[in-house]
Amino acid sequence: MSAAPVKGPESSTTGVFSKGRAAISARTLRTDSWWVPPLVTVLGLGTFVIYATVRSFARAAYWVNDYHYLTPFYSPCLSASCVEGSSHLGTPIGHLPMWIPLGFLVLPFLLLFRLTCYYYRKAYYRAVWFSPPACAVAEPHQKYTGETKLPLIIQNAHRYFFFVAAIIAVINTYDAAISFHGKDGGFGIGLGTIIITGNALLLWAYTLSCHSCRHIAGGRLKHFSAHPVRYWFWTKVSALNTRHMLLAWTTLGTLILTDFYVMLVASGTISDPRLIG
Ligand code: FES
Repeated sequence: MSAAPVKGPESSTTGVFSKGRAAISARTLRTDSWWVPPLVTVLGLGTFVIYATVRSFARAAYWVNDYHYLTPFYSPCLSASCVEGSSHLGTPIGHLPMWIPLGFLVLPFLLLFRLTCYYYRKAYYRAVWFSPPACAVAEPHQKYTGETKLPLIIQNAHRYFFFVAAIIAVINTYDAAISFHGKDGGFGIGLGTIIITGNALLLWAYTLSCHSCRHIAGGRLKHFSAHPVRYWFWTKVSALNTRHMLLAWTTLGTLILTDFYVMLVASGTISDPRLIG
């Protein structure tokens, strides 16, 4: 394979065109389908972003009063604009104009938690920002400043978004608990209960598998033997952490599934199969 001179600007001091890097003009020498994973990633993330945005602004079919099903995209619903029965924590916020989603208090934090997630960073740095698109494929950027400047320095706040995400997981758990509601007002279980509860459990699994959570559990300790409880928690979180990518994608799917199912039942398109009540 012949090596032609590098085309990058002389002024580049970082990145693949810097003077210290191998002088290879081809963007990559890979012959496999290296572009498939980034393409699948961008399609998956794009689908979720479009779906979540449309549903968040829809203000329709997000609450099933008979069975107390609330979609996670509207939880908690704290505005006087929320449909009757869906505001479990009251309505401290007045009516909201149509251009503000009813779940506006939770959506930005969830978005920031996911956007700053270590796994998602890898995914969209590659698939969206091409930095780099894949191993051994040169990126188009001529400079690399890492996460040391705005806006990417915000990634360092991920550890704080974790705490907000944990609070949101508690709210999702409450939503799951009240979905055990029968039509006559007593105890009940339907397919929606199972979907909402399964989604809440998986959201917990994703949240607890966070790298920041793992550090909170076992970081900055000199001797695990002196902290058996934290060591036990750290081993559990570490086991979950090995599945973090899987949980990241699974919960995107279960969020869509849960919202879509609640929408179908709330709109009367389907009826909820009931096991009890
Ligand atoms: Fe992914 Fe924290 S690293 S949620």
